[in-house]
Amino acid sequence: GNWHAADIDRVIVGEDQIRDKVDELAKQVAADYATADSVLLVGVLKGAVMFMADFARALGRHGPPVEMEFMAVSSYGQGTTSSGVVRILKDLDSDIAGRHVIVVEDIVDSGLTLSWLMKYLQSRRAASVEVVALLRKPDAVKVTVPVKYVGFDIPNEFVVGYGLDYSERYREVPYVGVLRKSVYAQS
Ligand code: PRP
Ligand code: MN
Ligand code: MG
Repeated sequence: GNWHAADIDRVIVGEDQIRDKVDELAKQVAADYATADSVLLVGVLKGAVMFMADFARALGRHGPPVEMEFMAVSSYGQGTTSSGVVRILKDLDSDIAGRHVIVVEDIVDSGLTLSWLMKYLQSRRAASVEVVALLRKPDAVKVTVPVKYVGFDIPNEFVVGYGLDYSERYREVPYVGVLRKSVYAQS
């Protein structure tokens, strides 16, 4: 149904824009990895699931063979303090030594999750580690995390949809939109 329209202030990235951008990013990655035997996509649960599925399919049209892994991490506890402590809730299933890894993220905000993850993957002796993120917020620019492939730079507002949640909701919304303040101001 269209129940979510009432909770969304405005659409930031529409379905068609997402589709076009995913294809564009896949073409870039395909060109950069043209000589690679394969790439290992590491999706970061749960936010990246929609982007991961669409990006992997787009690479299937343009790029080298793809394998998929998923990790789940808890980013710095309850608060928003920049302790940088990340706990692994679900680790890689396979040895990534020598593999060309691309971390797939829905959004880079503070960049803390990603900077920790990149170090971790490098410590597991990947041949290369790059990041593709559909969205990037302004704060991410401050962090020295090299996100090679970025879909959209978005304003510093609370967005949901296309994998991004508020309290586990709205992940299935097919576009990215700003959540109405009244939704999280109430109760
Ligand atoms: C969100 C988002 C990124 C991360 C970005 O995940 O999906 O993974 O936060 O934030 P950062 O750049 O400040 O580290 P979240 O922890 O909400 O988990 P989820 O993906 O399961 O929603
Ligand atoms: Mn996430
Ligand atoms: Mg979340």
